[in-house]
Amino acid sequence: MAIERTFSIIKPDAVAKNLVGAIYQRFEAAGLKVVAAKMVHLDKAKAEGFYAEHSERPFFNALVEFMTSGPVMVSVLEGENAVLRHREIMGATNPADALAGTLRADYADSIDENAVHGSDAPASAAREIAYFFSDEELCPRTR
Ligand code: TYD
Ligand code: MG
Repeated sequence: MAIERTFSIIKPDAVAKNLVGAIYQRFEAAGLKVVAAKMVHLDKAKAEGFYAEHSERPFFNALVEFMTSGPVMVSVLEGENAVLRHREIMGATNPADALAGTLRADYADSIDENAVHGSDAPASAAREIAYFFSDEELCPRTR
């Protein structure tokens, strides 16, 4: 399996609960390496663009409101099978359905405030990484 990159967001609810370190600990313990990270406070346009695929869904406005309600940590994570591995660490979208020991089972309060985002496929990972980071901001991890 080749080394892959994925895009991660620690959402405003988890940042507000001071869970940034606990969540990075899960990623690193699973063998994912941080190759870029920054805290940003999304404005409406940036959040709408990020979730454009959901623009016709009934939860879209609430989702944008939530994602702009406070700062988030955006990261690029690298490792074997990183996209799928990150999705497994996060757990299901609805924390009520998330497996025990996943981030959403442990830290999310509801489906609409669910602590973390992770890319769902390599193509979306590439698009999401480019939406937040320039190539110069990505730090190759040689060890
Ligand atoms: P989605 O891409 O389906 O989930 P995931 O984050 O697991 O890839 O949806 C994006 C976000 O939209 C989801 O994390 C939370 C929000 N959302 C709701 O608020 N209500 C819903 O019913 C769904 C499906 C998503
Ligand atoms: Mg998704």
